[in-house]
Amino acid sequence: MSTVLSADALKRAVAEAALAHVRDGEVLGVGTGSTANFFIDGLKPIRHKVKAAVASSEATKLRLEAIGIEVVSLNDVDHIGVYVDGADEINAALEMIKGGGGALTREKIVAALADTFVCIADDSKWVSQLGTFPLPIEVIPMARSMIARELVKLGGSPVYRNGFVTDNGNVILDTYGLDIRNPVELETHLNNLVGVVCNGLFARRPADVLLLGGSAGVRTITR
Ligand code: 5RP
Repeated sequence: MSTVLSADALKRAVAEAALAHVRDGEVLGVGTGSTANFFIDGLKPIRHKVKAAVASSEATKLRLEAIGIEVVSLNDVDHIGVYVDGADEINAALEMIKGGGGALTREKIVAALADTFVCIADDSKWVSQLGTFPLPIEVIPMARSMIARELVKLGGSPVYRNGFVTDNGNVILDTYGLDIRNPVELETHLNNLVGVVCNGLFARRPADVLLLGGSAGVRTITR
């Protein structure tokens, strides 16, 4: 019989399952958000296994340091074994929308250097097509209106994330209504708009492993 678990219980379950992916003596990449925070909490008893970590945000850096894990700059690392992070939406190809917490650019950079991207998510994030969650797009502040007009031309409705500044000093346009039937194509197109720093589509570099939490337990899905 399956039990209905709270969203936090599901996040904790997938975070705990991800601990099995932490490799002894390697540099670990750590994501941002409430699910990633449960993962960091779970790292505490096994922190001796982690040589050092690369953090995808200032918030994650502080949290890792608070439990005694050394955080190093990506510039001092040429290899990350495993990157563990959450997602706002994920599909069967393990393509994702990320950036609800505003850390998309650093998350995408850390993911790019990782051998294995382990996504941890509760089953509310599982979708057949990406795009119900508004796509976060990080832009250089002076390009905000210009990019917003380009997004409208693409059929999107961009909403300026008021009062939010990314760790990189930029702003975010949360964009509703984009047609994301071809995530790789749209990610590439958005990357090419001058003034866009990064977009929250993780399709060119999807996750390798998904730990998906539901009332029946944690399912492992691989590409
Ligand atoms: C932050 C992210 C997060 O991974 C995403 O927003 C999911 O967050 P949560 O685990 O809190 O649901 O991309 O930029």
